Amino acid sequence: MQIYTKEYLTSIQRIEQANNRKDAPILYIETYGCQMNVADSELVISIMIDNGYAITDDFNLADVIFINTCSVRDKAERKIRNRLKVFKFLKRSRPSVIVGILGCMSERLKEKLIEEEKIVDIVAGPDSYRSLPQLLKEAESGQTAINVLLSRDETYADISPVRRDKSGVSAYVSIIRGCDNMCAFCVVPFTRGRERSRSPETILEEIKQIIYEGYKEITLLGQNVDKYNWNNELNFAGLLRKVAIANPEIRIRFATSYPNNFTDEVLKTMADYSNICKYIHLPFQSGSSKILKKMRRGYTRESYIERINAIRKILPDCSISTDIIAGYCSETDEDHEQTISLMKNIKFDYAYTFKYSVRPGTYAARNYKDDIPERTKGKRLREIINLQTKISLESNKKDINKTFYVLIEGKSKRSSNRYFGRNSQNKVIVFPKINSKIGDIVRVVVTNCTSATLLGHIVKVDDIIKLIN
Ligand code: 5AD
Ligand code: SF4
Repeated sequence: MQIYTKEYLTSIQRIEQANNRKDAPILYIETYGCQMNVADSELVISIMIDNGYAITDDFNLADVIFINTCSVRDKAERKIRNRLKVFKFLKRSRPSVIVGILGCMSERLKEKLIEEEKIVDIVAGPDSYRSLPQLLKEAESGQTAINVLLSRDETYADISPVRRDKSGVSAYVSIIRGCDNMCAFCVVPFTRGRERSRSPETILEEIKQIIYEGYKEITLLGQNVDKYNWNNELNFAGLLRKVAIANPEIRIRFATSYPNNFTDEVLKTMADYSNICKYIHLPFQSGSSKILKKMRRGYTRESYIERINAIRKILPDCSISTDIIAGYCSETDEDHEQTISLMKNIKFDYAYTFKYSVRPGTYAARNYKDDIPERTKGKRLREIINLQTKISLESNKKDINKTFYVLIEGKSKRSSNRYFGRNSQNKVIVFPKINSKIGDIVRVVVTNCTSATLLGHIVKVDDIIKLIN
């Protein structure tokens, strides 16, 4: 890792230096899928800059095009295959351009990707990024280059990511890679391999650099952060505490939590430190215990509700979001009703909702029929979305007349004289700019809302950043 010293270069400086090198080959990278992929692309840029490449935001100028892909649902893969058509067209006029597919689709499809998509020169799985310079050499000599080996210990712990978040306010820090949970529907354990945690020293070092670069918020990332375990000496709650104590001046978030592994110790740590944001993303997937069993999630409707009750008891101000899958194998109308009733009962602040999509090779694909007609999946999903919109609106209305500390992230899309930011609960708030700038923490009173956004105005700009929730 670039160790943090007086000579430490920020991401912007590293890109500037890289782009000032004469005749450097130019990389363009496009990222799909989860936050982990965004973090991985930042690692890839770091590796490529250190190997002599310049970086561009315009693929027409690129010598090398990388696409960091997602396999979580068929729709994600189809979108990427469509995008490849654009690069195919580009390659017709500039045959020397190298196209590399990175990430989960590479890991899932391996050499098949090269057979199916004729323009692909490089296929690189999530644990192979250190070998990208070597793979590029092979591709430049006219061979197709593949590395889809999964690793038991690769965490890229020593590589300083080159951050590309445009506003420079919020940064991702990967703390654990892979997933051992093996939920029946999920491709992730196959594409990202076994769980492995990153050393706390390198995590804390990276956060120091992030603060030096001016960021005001970090999100600790993992497919399942609750499984963080460093040598049986430090668990996730312990890491969270260390990070919160060492960095009182920044906001700390984390994602994703898993119901079975989410402990009261984490909740108490969140309660103890005001700089840990009061927001938890806790996917439940289905409200029916029968379906949960078939999903191999390892918890029941009742034990999930017990976790929610623990959150509400220890952190009464905490917001909760979730993931829901509609139309999983053998899901009956009664099972679906159980999902609806769980939503009504818990009243999530936000939900990410999906139609079940068979992923080849998973336990569900091998053992169950995808027997819910597309129309039924669509109908159930719409019902879930409509209900959640109502619940989100209710939840937002409760915030009217409350004031929150808001970290300003950028200009509102709809109006250039308004900013948007998030409160601790991860809710987006839009308000007129007035004496504030991106990266400031301001106190905002909420005066109105929609189901997606809170609207308000600043009551105070803090000179010294105080992270009171
Ligand atoms: N079909 C639909 N949704 C899925 N997810 C994961 N795998 C599938 C699948 N095969 C959803 C889950 C998970 C989120 C990241 O994506 O809800 O929590
Ligand atoms: Fe998939 Fe389950 Fe791992 Fe989440 S925890 S990534 S749903 S296997």
